[in-house]
Amino acid sequence: MSADIINGKDLAQELRANMKEEVSQLVQMGITPHLTVLLVGDNPASKSYVKGKEKAAKEVGISSSLIELPASTTEDELLETIIQLNNDDSVHGILVQLPLPQQISERKVIEAIDPSKDVDGFHPVNIGRMMVGEDTFLPCTPYGILTMLKSRDIVIEGKHAVIIGRSNIVGKPVGQLLLNENATVTYCHSKTEDLKELTRQADILVVAVGRPNVITGDFLKEGAVVIDVGINRLENGSLTGDVDFEDAKEKAAYITPVPKGVGPMTIAMLLKNTIKAAKGLVS
Ligand code: GUN
Repeated sequence: MSADIINGKDLAQELRANMKEEVSQLVQMGITPHLTVLLVGDNPASKSYVKGKEKAAKEVGISSSLIELPASTTEDELLETIIQLNNDDSVHGILVQLPLPQQISERKVIEAIDPSKDVDGFHPVNIGRMMVGEDTFLPCTPYGILTMLKSRDIVIEGKHAVIIGRSNIVGKPVGQLLLNENATVTYCHSKTEDLKELTRQADILVVAVGRPNVITGDFLKEGAVVIDVGINRLENGSLTGDVDFEDAKEKAAYITPVPKGVGPMTIAMLLKNTIKAAKGLVS
């Protein structure tokens, strides 16, 4: 059996087409959704992600502005900029690209963003709302993963979802979203003993490890749904996921590729959150 491939690039494109309609209706009502992105320093990967976000925003009619600050920016300077954006009614969404230079506390910065403009869904208030199942901004990568599963009518309720990785951005929230959908959730991480024994029980396996090709077919149950969150650049310049795609696709029922998998969905969900912010749906 060869797995059905869930193409995130195509799905994201479809979602952007729908969002374009929605944005044009908002514009007719006098609201142009606006996203402000803050980029501190010159991390090449961050620059490239930010470019992708701006391009996608433009495509759907969301206006965006980029504030680029030097790597030497102090925490107070960045916090001051965020306060100004919080008070600017023309700005609906604020995104601070991570990681930040080491002199700046990511926690303090995230907590300074007005929760009603937190389109990344990283503010503790929004994380808390997500945990209790309230409607709010969901973190973009987990939200994208959920949307991919739903796009194929994959049953989540009652299924065993195993998450590898426990970051605040991906691992923890994706487990929470799947729990909200009535999955039974197991979190695995670097200290987990006998990882393979657990992954082999997964109906849905979400892999967010950050190391290329570590999950091979022998980690999978026959017919599993495999979601690969990894984006690893190899020495030859090509991109690869955390899952050995060629090996895993022989055992999985569904699999997401890298590239053209979760990555484009993350950006699409950021746009969705920005529209939601412009509509004033989160206080
Ligand atoms: N860095 C890597 N992923 C993300 C993301 O989703 N949002 C932000 N703000 N920074 C990131």
